[in-house]
Amino acid sequence: MSKNIIIAIDGYSSSGKSSMARALAKRIGYRYIDSGAMYRAVTLHAMRNGMTSADGTVDAEAVTRVLPDIKIDFMVTPEGQHTMLNGEDVEKEIRQMAVSNFVSEIAAIPQVRHALVAMQQSFGSSKGIVMDGRDIGTTVFPDAEMKVFVNASAETRAQRRFAELIEKGTPASYEEVLANVVHRDHIDETREESPLRKADDAVVLDNSTMTIDEQNAWLLDLYNRCSQ
Ligand code: CDP
Repeated sequence: MSKNIIIAIDGYSSSGKSSMARALAKRIGYRYIDSGAMYRAVTLHAMRNGMTSADGTVDAEAVTRVLPDIKIDFMVTPEGQHTMLNGEDVEKEIRQMAVSNFVSEIAAIPQVRHALVAMQQSFGSSKGIVMDGRDIGTTVFPDAEMKVFVNASAETRAQRRFAELIEKGTPASYEEVLANVVHRDHIDETREESPLRKADDAVVLDNSTMTIDEQNAWLLDLYNRCSQ
């Protein structure tokens, strides 16, 4: 019998961690939580309420003030999990480049992180969960039984994200996506509050040259070993 565990999958933007986390959760019957979607939902709320400016700045105090009014949840639909912001399905909108352009600035605000980390920890209170993000193995679940840190070159990641956006009919250019990936990597790695870094006990996966099937098989094999 395998035991119920917490699986933390962290890594750089567009490294494919969400797809592999989702596939593993489905395969083993665990709940999947996309923590990045939660930062994206807060970003959308801030944008809609005039807390972001065209010059790229964010009014951190205003965002902090409205945090208690923001409720984030996930709804299971036939096409997959959708992110809900105060009861509204915002799944498509939070994936737009306009949101990607501000999300790392919003995610660097300590009060935003404290509020979302608390929500994420409550999602994992009964284990049996796969969560992906930047700080899941370091801050949200430092005691997770399985930790993976995913990476691939910036160009590979930008190419994947560009293909994904085009497939979904979301307007973007490759150059814009690459610039955004590099920009977010930098902010995520250098912010003061829980920066992106590999947990000491995380297993590294560089999936630059792996197919989706290969990476899913690799992850399932690790799960089988960690859940013994
Ligand atoms: O899909 P992608 O990997 O590009 O990004 P995401 O997982 O949707 O996360 C969007 C942004 O939220 C990241 O670039 C980080 O700035 C932030 N984030 C974070 O700070 N901590 C997390 N646990 C998850 C996301």
